[in-house]
Amino acid sequence: MDRYAVFGNPIGHSKSPYIHQQFALQTAESLSYEAILAPVAGFADSWRTFVSEGGKGANVTVPFKEQAFALAEILSERAQQAGAVNTLYINSEGKLVGDNTDGIGLVQDLERLGAKLTNAAILLLGAGGASRGVVGPLLQAGVAKIVIANRTVEKAQAIAASFPASVIAASLDAIPEQPYHLVINATSSGLTNERPEFGSKHLRHCQLAYDMLYGAKPTAFLSWCKEQGVPVQADGLGMLVAQAAAAFFIWRGKQPDITPVLTQLKAQLSQ
Ligand code: ATR
Repeated sequence: MDRYAVFGNPIGHSKSPYIHQQFALQTAESLSYEAILAPVAGFADSWRTFVSEGGKGANVTVPFKEQAFALAEILSERAQQAGAVNTLYINSEGKLVGDNTDGIGLVQDLERLGAKLTNAAILLLGAGGASRGVVGPLLQAGVAKIVIANRTVEKAQAIAASFPASVIAASLDAIPEQPYHLVINATSSGLTNERPEFGSKHLRHCQLAYDMLYGAKPTAFLSWCKEQGVPVQADGLGMLVAQAAAAFFIWRGKQPDITPVLTQLKAQLSQ
């Protein structure tokens, strides 16, 4: 049976084994998928052990996305743009390929939620790895303008510099005034029950507020957007399932249906 895994530290609460087991059932693929706790400085050794024991491919999560990027012999364009790898596999020539499905996972989830990305203007909050990874796929989906707003403006400038002029940087207190159709929170503020502080005037034309984090309750950011009258709010659970589906497709050539798995995960979270 082909073996797959997710590597992380910590990894105990990862939903990836459940998601991939559901995908395997759905598509009648025979595979196993486990969670592997790798030492913080020892991702490469853990990966090599896994491959020597028959491992075919893996997902990579915090804090190993940059180590996986460094280890890969071939990088997809989206992994290069993201500067990080979340999906690894060995190709037919025996080379280790690093890809990144996080951005396409977000795009697919936004489309599932009915967001119109063609010609949209997006306010993207945060300038860490989560933010960098989604800019390229959003542009490829037809987004016209992305304003990356971050508390520390230099980090937003560093990301914007790698993309065309339609991507611009701002600090949270100097966001350019223009209609934003979509606001996406890629900061980690929700982990401490906070939200990025910026003027509610920027939400006036916003149809959808998205937080890449997820949990049993809406994040502080999503609750605030709702109070400000943004019609639709969504958390990052759909992105998690969609990035997994894109990895599954890379490995197995079959596209799973994310909706039933997302419904099951939502039910588990609310228990
Ligand atoms: P990741 O790789 O998950 O994106 P990261 O690199 O640690 O994580 O980046 C976290 C992001 O969340 C940063 O953009 C950070 O802003 P700074 O660059 O100014 O530190 C942002 N962030 C975290 N907590 C925040 C808060 N309470 N308000 C606003 N931004 C916050």
